[in-house]
Amino acid sequence: MQKVVIRDVGGPGQLKLEDAAEPRAGADEVLVKVSAAGINYVDVYQRKGIYKLPLPYTPGFEGMGTITAVGSNVKQLRVGQQVAWIDTLGSYSQMLAIPASHAIALPDSFKAGDALLFQGVTAQYLMAEYRALTAGDWVLVHSAAGGVGQLLVQWAKHLGATVVGTTSSSQKAERVRALGADYVIDYSKSDFLTEVLALTNKRGVDIVFDGVGHDTFERSVQSLARGGTAVCYGAASGPSPKIDPHSLVPKALRVAGGSIFGYIADVKQLQARSRAVIEGIQQGWLKQGAPAAYALGDAHRAHSDIEGRGTQGKLMLVP
Ligand SMILES: NC(=O)c1ccc[n+]([C@@H]2O[C@H](COP(=O)([O-])OP(=O)(O)OC[C@H]3O[C@@H](n4cnc5c(N)ncnc54)[C@H](OP(=O)(O)O)[C@@H]3O)[C@@H](O)[C@H]2O)c1
Repeated sequence: MQKVVIRDVGGPGQLKLEDAAEPRAGADEVLVKVSAAGINYVDVYQRKGIYKLPLPYTPGFEGMGTITAVGSNVKQLRVGQQVAWIDTLGSYSQMLAIPASHAIALPDSFKAGDALLFQGVTAQYLMAEYRALTAGDWVLVHSAAGGVGQLLVQWAKHLGATVVGTTSSSQKAERVRALGADYVIDYSKSDFLTEVLALTNKRGVDIVFDGVGHDTFERSVQSLARGGTAVCYGAASGPSPKIDPHSLVPKALRVAGGSIFGYIADVKQLQARSRAVIEGIQQGWLKQGAPAAYALGDAHRAHSDIEGRGTQGKLMLVP
């Protein structure tokens, strides 16, 4: 079988396809033939060495596929069943052994790419943990045409909020509008803070989801209404600047941060949050759209594309 291996940190060229021995399922694991491996921005941070992993390693936390073998202790899963996973490093591979308790059972009708759940579960915890959104709330979603961004827009609209999305091109803006966003700002051309204050009659938004970081976070906090919350969950443009807590006092603002790994560390939470995403997909209000597909050997191209801001929505490798 083949898998992608990173032997040294650096540019996309570090993603190399190699032959490897097929893994075996341990007693509490299942062996999966991978039908799709998801690409996430965190894979880029790790490849560059911003988040450090022991070398060499095979990237990728998420995927979906069909079980080909079950370990001797595994009772709840069977060969032939379709599962997804979001916390097993090594997913850029044709075959992968995953802990059975972390395998997320999928409806048989799901096709490759329908249920790559990492970004969906991210959107789920971001929606669930920081504010109980209701109609009347204003939400600002940065990089709204991105993988997580598209799902946040749909989820916030589903909950009845008014949604403002930011993105960097007219093509991406069209996509964000089609997902139901009420307003879209091209933050590469105009100052989103000025625009948000104009749209809200100087009131500001109740919550902002910021995965961009350096270029936006300070103004994200400034775009909040009284009692609002700015959630930092990523750093696509680099780490956010420090925020002085005293600057939060006059308008009773909150600054929060979160990582998916903290919210799925407990297997019950992992399964419950994943089920919430699958239900949204099945009910039809949450759509990931057909992911942009790349061959396993083209992982370097997928990384160049996501880093180059040229992508919209989900990216996947099809091994
Ligand atoms: N904390 C968590 O639990 C968690 C989980 C998943 C993802 N994340 C974070 O969420 C963010 C989105 O992840 P994703 O996988 O869905 O990626 P993505 O949004 O599909 O891709 C990144 C997007 O960031 C925007 N961006 C803004 N400035 C950028 C810059 N200087 N360089 C590159 N991109 C820039 C681009 O959108 P525009 O062109 O529209 O600006 C780009 O398309 C990332 O920061 C990621 O680390 C966090």
